[in-house]
Amino acid sequence: MACADARPPAWALALAALGLLASARAAARLALWVYAVFLRPAKPLRRRYGAWAVVTGATDGIGRALAFRLAASGLDVVLVGRDPDKLAAVAADIKAKAKQRRPDAEVRTFAVDFTADDAAARVVALGEFLRGLDVGVLVNNVGASYPYARYFHEVDEELARRLIRLNVEAVTRVTHAVLPGMVERRRGAIVNMGSGASAVMPSDPLYTVYVATKAYVDQFSRCLYVEYKSKGIDVQCQLRCGTLEYASVAMIFNIHRLFCKTYFGRNFYITY
Ligand SMILES: NC(=O)c1ccc[n+]([C@@H]2O[C@H](COP(=O)([O-])OP(=O)(O)OC[C@H]3O[C@@H](n4cnc5c(N)ncnc54)[C@H](OP(=O)(O)O)[C@@H]3O)[C@@H](O)[C@H]2O)c1
Repeated sequence: MACADARPPAWALALAALGLLASARAAARLALWVYAVFLRPAKPLRRRYGAWAVVTGATDGIGRALAFRLAASGLDVVLVGRDPDKLAAVAADIKAKAKQRRPDAEVRTFAVDFTADDAAARVVALGEFLRGLDVGVLVNNVGASYPYARYFHEVDEELARRLIRLNVEAVTRVTHAVLPGMVERRRGAIVNMGSGASAVMPSDPLYTVYVATKAYVDQFSRCLYVEYKSKGIDVQCQLRCGTLEYASVAMIFNIHRLFCKTYFGRNFYITY
């Protein structure tokens, strides 16, 4: 006959307690995720970081869309790109839209070709151009990939140089030009465009140089995040996967997430 006060063995109780703890942890993470993705209010960017946003590669794609959103969220914007005519056209569009909400909205442009031999000097000039502006947000968006997949031995000198100049040198130089002002003001946010291909996927064959340059952006951002945390500057690397349209939509409609800590407790956000 079974004994009425038979208790489960100690090891079973310990396992049950462990299971309970694991479930509670998973539930807490899920709740934090729901909060971060759907409920968390936007940061007041202008008040928190400063009046101006600088966006590189702002004449097309994600950079252009982000520039519109940053202007709509109350920031004045400096558009950086290589084509003066495109810059002027995008600036006029953004200004027309932003002025509907804020008559004193400002948009300025600065032309630099980050693959040209004078790029380093032009970025120094960009630093001068920005001096005196309360730059709160820097989006290092400019970047490029292969026109099509290819083996590494088929990557020619010109393509490799272009990828390194755009994906590595531009982010490094522009950050170096903008940071001193942020340090002085003890506030700022830097968003660097990485890629899920370098951090989420275990490898991305046939895009080797692209992915390697984006791994640089990832580590560059992590280290800067730690270096400048105590100086009031947030640094974030966007690791995006997916098509242009989907990545853009996800980012544009959730711009406040760009500047918030993630539910992973790290200052990195993964947008699919
Ligand atoms: N799209 C995606 O799904 C995806 C995924 C992962 C990561 N990313 C990263 O996100 C960033 C933006 O991607 P995107 O797809 O939006 O790019 P995109 O549509 O090709 O736009 C690139 C922007 O950079 C500018 N640009 C190109 N070469 C330049 C140069 N030599 N000097 C100055 N500006 C130059 C372009 O100017 P023009 O208008 O004159 O061409 C354009 O404004 C990149 O860093 C990319 O690696 C994108």
